[in-house]
Amino acid sequence: MAPILDENTLEFVSRSSEQTQRLGARLGALLQGGDVICLEGSLGAGKTRLAQGIGRGWGVSQTLISPTFVLVREYARSGESLRFGEPSRLYHIDLYRISGAEEAWGLGMGDFLGDARAICIIEWAERARALMPSDHLWIRLDFTDHTRRALYFTAQGKRHTALLQKFRQVAFGA
Ligand SMILES: Nc1ncnc2c1ncn2[C@@H]1O[C@H](COP(=O)(O)OP(=O)(O)OP(=O)(O)O)[C@@H](O)[C@H]1O
Ligand SMILES: [Mg+2]
Repeated sequence: MAPILDENTLEFVSRSSEQTQRLGARLGALLQGGDVICLEGSLGAGKTRLAQGIGRGWGVSQTLISPTFVLVREYARSGESLRFGEPSRLYHIDLYRISGAEEAWGLGMGDFLGDARAICIIEWAERARALMPSDHLWIRLDFTDHTRRALYFTAQGKRHTALLQKFRQVAFGA
């Protein structure tokens, strides 16, 4: 069930890690350069699981691994190097070890977020909320029990509101 609260929000209860990944893959397939996906949720909430699904849906052939100790991992779309022009990329960022927006900025967050050809997925985005572009999709994951997670999607700005509407359609047919 995905109750529609308004066009900017969506709620969903995932019943397994696999379901979270599948949902992520549905979202990932819709992403375009410049999209910013902010993930909030406590340790083990499922941010990386969701990011792995997003990466798979977007077209990364390997499994995304947690960038907790490196801040950012960069991925290409499989087969893209065969095309002309600059390849698009996906940045998987983890701000867990970051003290705040200033430190994140100093580590080059501005470059990732300002890359119009790139998808950015940011775990612990709330640690540098001020750096997030005004147009973004925010996803909060709440631990419900051992296998359940409540996911709250909130779109900000025209572009990500349109993305959320499209996602609602393909994932829930609503
Ligand atoms: N419905 C669910 N959705 C996602 N993960 C689930 C679910 N049920 C159980 N899990 C388990 O919860 C864990 C989530 O781990 P994950 O690394 O994705 O969390 P995280 O939010 O990225 O944590 P961290 O803050 O440490 O980066 C995994 O072990 C996964 O198998
Ligand atoms: Mg993680």
